[in-house]
Amino acid sequence: MSFKEMFDQYRVEIEEALDKSIVVDDKDYAGLVEAMRYSLLSGGKRIRAVMVLEFCRLFSGEYKKAMPYACAIEMVHAYSLIHDDLPCMDDDDFRRGKPSCHKQFGEANALLAGDALLTHAFEHPFSNCEGLDAKTAIAAMRELAVFAGYSGMVGGQYIDLDSEGKKIPLELLNKLQLLKTSGLIRAAGKMGAILGGATQKQLETVDSYCQKLGLAFQITDDILDVVGDEKLLGKPIHSDEENEKSTYVSIFGLEEAKKIADELSDQAVAELNKLPGDKEFVIELTNMLARRTY
Ligand code: IPE
Ligand code: IPE
Ligand code: MG
Ligand code: MG
Ligand code: MG
Repeated sequence: MSFKEMFDQYRVEIEEALDKSIVVDDKDYAGLVEAMRYSLLSGGKRIRAVMVLEFCRLFSGEYKKAMPYACAIEMVHAYSLIHDDLPCMDDDDFRRGKPSCHKQFGEANALLAGDALLTHAFEHPFSNCEGLDAKTAIAAMRELAVFAGYSGMVGGQYIDLDSEGKKIPLELLNKLQLLKTSGLIRAAGKMGAILGGATQKQLETVDSYCQKLGLAFQITDDILDVVGDEKLLGKPIHSDEENEKSTYVSIFGLEEAKKIADELSDQAVAELNKLPGDKEFVIELTNMLARRTY
């Protein structure tokens, strides 16, 4: 199977699993579930879910058992985007080519949809973990809890907002990006690897790969915020400039930022080469993300 065929197959299966993961089961809060489904099922590249599945496959030869965890990370990611778009944060009106959740359903409902997606992410894998031993199921879930929280994505979002309008040192910018974006990417890689039975040493290599990929991914996102095509991206450009964000682009300029992202992406691939198994897909994924236009 080619890279594209495999990527498309993963994504079809992820969409099917996500569609089934949240259902309207009570008419009195159906509006809340509608808002959750609106943001969860609105497209997106699904790279975090694909990483969960692929790292499980890399270490065990199969990926189906990782699907509930792949869904969970997309739930946390969707919640983070709903909250990120709120007027009190980045105040962006479009996401994935549609009105942002708060534009469609109002701010209070968007806040609640985010809260409910976050909590459901921690129920869903535990309600669907047949065939996994309890220790593995818990160890994988713990990664998501750590990297989604204050010492992960939320901590990064705090520093991101706290740095608006300021000139911050490079160390703090690195920390910001590592927490807010590498956070969920580390959770994705490590969850998949744990479910696939990776050793401690292999987990450390996966983690190092994910940190570099996450940084490169966010730098590219910041570049696309300046030079991207709004239609392709499905979200407004120049949001960072409007919010006076600290980014690699604001500190180094476009050309240098692009160079740094490419270097980080190459370093990420070098980490992958330390792992056993068939790494062709994940190497292609890394290169594709570095060159992405959305
Ligand atoms: C957007 O993530 C937020 C960042 C961390 C840059 P993605 O670019 O993965 O967004 P979707 O899921 O494809 O919409
Ligand atoms: C946000 O980064 C990353 C999250 C943790 C949600 P951005 O604010 O740059 O993401 P976009 O550009 O709105 O997708
Ligand atoms: Mg933001
Ligand atoms: Mg934003
Ligand atoms: Mg951005």
